[in-house]
This record gives sequence, C-alpha cells and structure tokens, in this order.
Amino acid sequence: MNVMIFTSSPNIDGLTAACGNAAKTGAEESGAHVVMVNLNRQQIGHCQACGNGWGTCRNEHKCQVQDDFQDLYASMANINAFIMVTPVYFGEMSESAKNFSDRLRRCEAFKKDKTFLEGKPILAVAAAGGSGNGLTSCLTSMERLFTHVRAEKFDLIGITQKNKGYKLDAIHEAGKEMVAVLIRKG
Ligand SMILES: Cc1cc2nc3c(=O)[nH]c(=O)nc-3n(C[C@H](O)[C@H](O)[C@H](O)COP(=O)(O)O)c2cc1C
Repeated sequence: MNVMIFTSSPNIDGLTAACGNAAKTGAEESGAHVVMVNLNRQQIGHCQACGNGWGTCRNEHKCQVQDDFQDLYASMANINAFIMVTPVYFGEMSESAKNFSDRLRRCEAFKKDKTFLEGKPILAVAAAGGSGNGLTSCLTSMERLFTHVRAEKFDLIGITQKNKGYKLDAIHEAGKEMVAVLIRKG
C-alpha cells in the first residue's frame, strides 16, 4: 500500500511539517509505505496556459512545461492513497501547492480513461495561523481540486496554531484509518 504525502511549506519544522509527520506515522502504523514530497523542494513552475488556454494537457494529458512536474506526476500512477498538507496563505493553498495542483488538474480533468487519482482516497489538511482566517476557503479549493481529479475525499481537516494540540492527533488517526479502510477493502 503506497501513500504519497505532499507538503508545501518552506518551513521544515513548522505546522505543515508536523501535520505531514503525524499523517505519515499514522499511515505507517496501518502498514503503508509512505513517500514524502515537499513541493517547496521541487522545481515546479506555474501553469503557462499554453496556446489559447490549453496545451498538451487537454488531449495528451501531459504538461508541456518541462520541470520536476513530469516525474512527480508519473510517479502518482503507482500510489494508492494521497495526503495533501498545505499552509493557509491568504485563505488559499500555498504557492507551491497551487502550482502543482493547477497543472495536475489540467492533466487529469479531461482524461477519458481512469485518472491517476480516480477512486483513490485523499486526505486534505489546511494548516493555518492563529486566526484561522480563510481556513475554510482553502479547504474548499482543495475539495474542488479533488472533485476535478476524481479522487475519493476521505477527510478535509483544518488545523490552527491554537488547536493543534488535538488536531495533530486527529490527523494521525486520519492517516491511520484511511490506510486501514483501504486494506480492509482489499
Ligand atoms: C504569506 C502568508 C499568508 C498567510 N495567510 C494566512 C491566512 O490567510 N490565514 C491564516 O490563518 N494564517 C495565514 N498565514 C499563517 C500561516 O498559515 C501559518 O503560520 C501556518 O502555520 C504556516 O505553516 P508553517 O508553519 O508550515 O509555515 C499566512 C502566512 C503567510 C506566510
């Protein structure tokens, strides 16, 4: 059982990283092999909206902007479940998460065949500051993304600096349960 966890913060010891590690421990406790991907360490630029708005993404389901996106995207075919953790910036996903998810959505959304995420469980975590302003709008945009790529939403969890005491436990349990459910399904 392969699980890929995306994190998308520049801080290696911040709340996003703590959420990613909590989910990782939980998934591993249920027997998963976990691949961690820090999107801030990848060279993934923004979508160029090639041509008149669509490039090869629409019909060939490939992004023609050459960078680290291609290898990461290809590797997702062999993953059974996903966890996406982003800090909340201005009520949205962080820039590295947006760059990646914009291009992922374009490659996946018009596939006639199964997408790389279709029917696969995905857990969203939005990590905000103390105010929690924009936490729900961030989760809403993640929910839209998951719908477009046809993933199966397992949970959408918001966490702030104030409630991390119990929410980190919830993220750990969510990672554990998501994999356990998959294993039970066979
Ligand atoms: C550019 C920027 C924008 C932010 N916008 C918000 C926001 O809209 N709402 C919020 O609650 N926190 C906001 N924050 C705070 C971060 O979401 C918060 O510090 C989060 O824990 C960062 O994750 P990290 O610890 O992994 O860096 C913002 C931080 C930055 C750097």
